[in-house]
Amino acid sequence: MTGSVKIDLVEALRQFGADEAALRLLDSNEPALLPYATLLSARDGGDEDLQAVGGIYEWQGAPLVFLVAADRLGEDEARLQRIRRLLAMRGDAPYLGVVGVGRLDIYHISLDDYRPTEARVDVGVAAGQEIATLAHLANARPGLPPGNRQWISQVVLKLLGGSIDTLKTVCGVDDDDAISLVGRALFTRFLGDRHLLGSLGVDIRTATGLFDDAASAAKTSDWLDATFNGDFLPTSPGIWERLPQDAFRVLGDILRRAPGGQLRLGWEERWDNLDFAHIPVGVLSQAYEHYLHRHAPDRQRREGGFYTPRPIADLMVRGGLNAVARTTPAHGARILDPAAGAGVFLITAFRQLVAENWRASGRRPDTHELRRILYDQVTGFDINEAALRFAALGLYLMSIELDAHPEPVRKLKFENLRGHVLLKMSGDGQERSLGSLGPAVGDEHVGQYDLVVGNPPWATSTRLPGWHEVQAIIHRIAAERLPPDYPPPPIPNEVLDLPFVWRAMEWAKPLGQIAFALHARLLFQQRDGMQSARRALFAALDVTGVVNGVELRQTRVWPEVAAPFCILYARNQVPPQGAGCRLVNPRLEGALNQSGGMRIDGTNAELITAQEIVETPEIFKLSL
Ligand SMILES: C[S@@+](CC[C@H](N)C(=O)[O-])C[C@H]1O[C@@H](n2cnc3c(N)ncnc32)[C@H](O)[C@@H]1O
Repeated sequence: MTGSVKIDLVEALRQFGADEAALRLLDSNEPALLPYATLLSARDGGDEDLQAVGGIYEWQGAPLVFLVAADRLGEDEARLQRIRRLLAMRGDAPYLGVVGVGRLDIYHISLDDYRPTEARVDVGVAAGQEIATLAHLANARPGLPPGNRQWISQVVLKLLGGSIDTLKTVCGVDDDDAISLVGRALFTRFLGDRHLLGSLGVDIRTATGLFDDAASAAKTSDWLDATFNGDFLPTSPGIWERLPQDAFRVLGDILRRAPGGQLRLGWEERWDNLDFAHIPVGVLSQAYEHYLHRHAPDRQRREGGFYTPRPIADLMVRGGLNAVARTTPAHGARILDPAAGAGVFLITAFRQLVAENWRASGRRPDTHELRRILYDQVTGFDINEAALRFAALGLYLMSIELDAHPEPVRKLKFENLRGHVLLKMSGDGQERSLGSLGPAVGDEHVGQYDLVVGNPPWATSTRLPGWHEVQAIIHRIAAERLPPDYPPPPIPNEVLDLPFVWRAMEWAKPLGQIAFALHARLLFQQRDGMQSARRALFAALDVTGVVNGVELRQTRVWPEVAAPFCILYARNQVPPQGAGCRLVNPRLEGALNQSGGMRIDGTNAELITAQEIVETPEIFKLSL
């Protein structure tokens, strides 16, 4: 790790096969750096350790290696260990690279108490083949800990689930209140770790006591309502007075940070071992899925509450917006997730729209513009109250994360997101409703969105009351697009995901984009009328791309879902003559999939025409 010579990262990485277009330098100020906004603010805020991180090398648009120039690190092992720990809080790139003259020392990134020598990776390229280093890292993922790397999302899930559990089981707090209380404490912790509690008269050291008793918790909570607005994470009246002391121990723990803010290098799954200045906001939506999985498995199964991993949501929004940009400026795009859940698509859509606005205006959007983009260009529907509360929390936090100047926090006041950006499509306490599939979604949403994206519920045989209304709406949409004598499209076994595709044809603008993660039965099932359902859908909608994820089930690409999935991209029009879709079949690749990655190689994707799908419904099976 010797490093007296000033290292030019671009120059130094060329011999390791770097593609300059995939290299992001943190000293530049560009929209493509928005996914690293927390790193930029920490560096700008004087974080000496992170100032040594000079860049990121990306693969397929996702971070692969964080780069530190050896001259910025010197012989300081402890500093390398601290940097490795902070980067592990992000839960994205698997590697850290120290770049020296003719050298690239690679370390794997994980939440552990390994010393650098133990985390060092033998990349395994032969001498003289150094040019293959970065490609080999991307494809083979050498040296990653066997089994699952300790992922920040799992740690936050466990801690969050534990806190919500204890409030419910030990302190007798109800579901929605427990989520709101923990969410408020977590929100305060996010603000504290990002030095944004100034106007509450506390700083990072004194923030730890903000939820330790009823009086301070009520005061902190009132401050949150006054500063941000009252609609996020509502609690029932008089809650602070009713809570037992145990509850304040649970909430207080969430605020606990390592003494003096300096992370310990030993590793244990504890709140005070985390640094929320670097934990991505998207982790929250996964947290909610975990909570549901544990607390309402039947409801999760019925409502299809399986949430989408961030990398897949990023990929789909990026693909959808790139397609939008072919017909209309992407920075003005309106984006809808009609089954938003805890908001993973909305959060990444918001960030990508901000990047598009920055590209279009040449200037990083300020607080006012961030609000305008959030209120005017991002919309989510759902039927699940708790999920919408997590989505609201995520969008507030992302707004703060994307703000280059979030101070003074009083300027961060938000309008109510609920009823405006986030719309609940079911009555309070209404367990079973048609939600976005029924008349609850009015004409004001027809033809309004440039991109309709999401992962609708895949549940089947749901016997939802009023299902005939869903069929009537789909038959009307189909009749407007298919030849007059075409039979009404069936919805086999009352599956929920297909009707979302049909409704999206109404919500999207003409020639707008639709990108959905769906159950792969749409492509491969031959019985129960699925052949006719497939024929009708591909005859009514110009499907441009299909990613067949069947081989990747039960890998870390989408760990919580056992069902075979596919991703469908479409332009909102009836397919023109000769139109067809590119079919991409990502293959099983052990280490790559184990690290959550999949190879999307569109270059040799097979083109299947809409006509072929209509004439040969088994065509997808035949193309495997
Ligand atoms: C598979 S989850 C996906 C959530 C989120 N889009 C994601 O990808 O992480 C499906 C979501 O659909 C919601 N949902 C189920 N039925 C619905 C309906 N009829 N209308 C609107 N949302 C519905 C569930 O509450 C759940 O949040």
